[in-house]
Amino acid sequence: MQEKQSIHGSWANRWIFILAATGSAVGLGNIWKFPYITGENGGGAFVLVYLVCILLVGVPIMMGEVLIGRRARQSPINAMREVAKESGHSGKWSLVGLMGVLSGFMIFSFYSVVAGWVLYYIAGMGKGDFVGIGGEQAGAIFNGLLGDWESLLIWHTVFVVMVMTVVAGGVNKGLERATRIMMPALFVLLLVLLGYSMNTGHFSDGWNFLFEFDVSKLSWNAVLVALGHSFFTLSLGMGAIMAYGSYMPKKASIGGTVLTIAAMDTLVALIAGLAIFPIVFANGMDPGAGPGLMFVTLPVAFGQMAGGQLFGFLFFLLIGVAAWTSAISLMEPAAAYMVENFGMSRVTSCVILALTVWGLGILALGSFNFMSDFTLFGMNTFDFLDFATANIMLPLGGIFISLFAGWFVKKKVSLDELAMEENGLFYLWYISIRFIAPLAVSIIFVVNLYQKIAG
Ligand code: TRP
Repeated sequence: MQEKQSIHGSWANRWIFILAATGSAVGLGNIWKFPYITGENGGGAFVLVYLVCILLVGVPIMMGEVLIGRRARQSPINAMREVAKESGHSGKWSLVGLMGVLSGFMIFSFYSVVAGWVLYYIAGMGKGDFVGIGGEQAGAIFNGLLGDWESLLIWHTVFVVMVMTVVAGGVNKGLERATRIMMPALFVLLLVLLGYSMNTGHFSDGWNFLFEFDVSKLSWNAVLVALGHSFFTLSLGMGAIMAYGSYMPKKASIGGTVLTIAAMDTLVALIAGLAIFPIVFANGMDPGAGPGLMFVTLPVAFGQMAGGQLFGFLFFLLIGVAAWTSAISLMEPAAAYMVENFGMSRVTSCVILALTVWGLGILALGSFNFMSDFTLFGMNTFDFLDFATANIMLPLGGIFISLFAGWFVKKKVSLDELAMEENGLFYLWYISIRFIAPLAVSIIFVVNLYQKIAG
């Protein structure tokens, strides 16, 4: 019997899939967001909750996504329809895939704006613009950038073109090749920076901050943030992992593979924290500085330190690479869909997608300048895109995907695709995907929404 293949190609082996999915997972979420939300939520207690969420909710849903993608070997919209029909259900499940493609666009548009800041900082660090500056100057540079729509537009454009180029190359010549080059580079950069921060003399402060568990610091809000973030950081809820799963070799086991991806994503987030906080503490700065931690606090710290120009440059390079491999997975599901359904070439699809995302991104970057007065539900466009996706569309996608995989896909199909026996390990997954994951995500979903509405 010939094995079913995706028309787009397949990863060369299991490790390429693991690295590509890790590339999707490891992004701004790990290196920018994780350290600052950890800082804001009191360190160790938050980290522990986050780890539990990854294991209890993230891993089961990721297994569900890979299972569906690989079963159908098609882009998420078509995959949901196929797998639903195979189990005797309505093809309307494809709407979940459609919502995913939409979320992908929206995430990409603001993700690209932040990635644009990163590109600007790579250049700035390289030129030595931050050497010896103080906090006020660093704040002024960052705010100056935000106010300057032309610079923002240039860097946003560069980033969209970078991503489009890779996705247009296809699964093997684009995504796989980028993975083979960029993922090793990412790990090397991360370790170099870890070594640097170990030499700051404040490594143990950073360590304690991340791993000292203080229950009193744990708030209900921290739990919500942790659960939401475990979703975002693993790229779940929109079909990115489903699309990557559709290119996965049949022989590879899904459970072990997914655990490896989740472990690597978590490890990168923790190492990023271990690289960042000692530098923050070495310069007597505030770990709870919020979103500005990376763009204001860290540049000042680097500017004060021996070798800071070089290592600051490498640090932003690392984030740039991480953002790039993530954004690729935001475009891939839509690109694959257009090739499958409209008979377009990959290049044409990617150009159309890139133009759309680019346009939406202009609305996002305008939030900081020419459109600063424009609001949707009381948020500027940038915040709205972030909120609508991270707090509404991704959780909804996650709820639907887990309900679908848990209750609608025939158990026989799941067992076959996961290559599992009906044993304790299988039931662990089955219980998580049927009950724990949809319930937990529904709770964050409702509470988040309620808090937003109640203000
Ligand atoms: N996981 C990425 C990060 O941590 C972001 C990301 C990439 C993403 N693809 C996604 C988030 C798909 C949700 C869905 O930065």
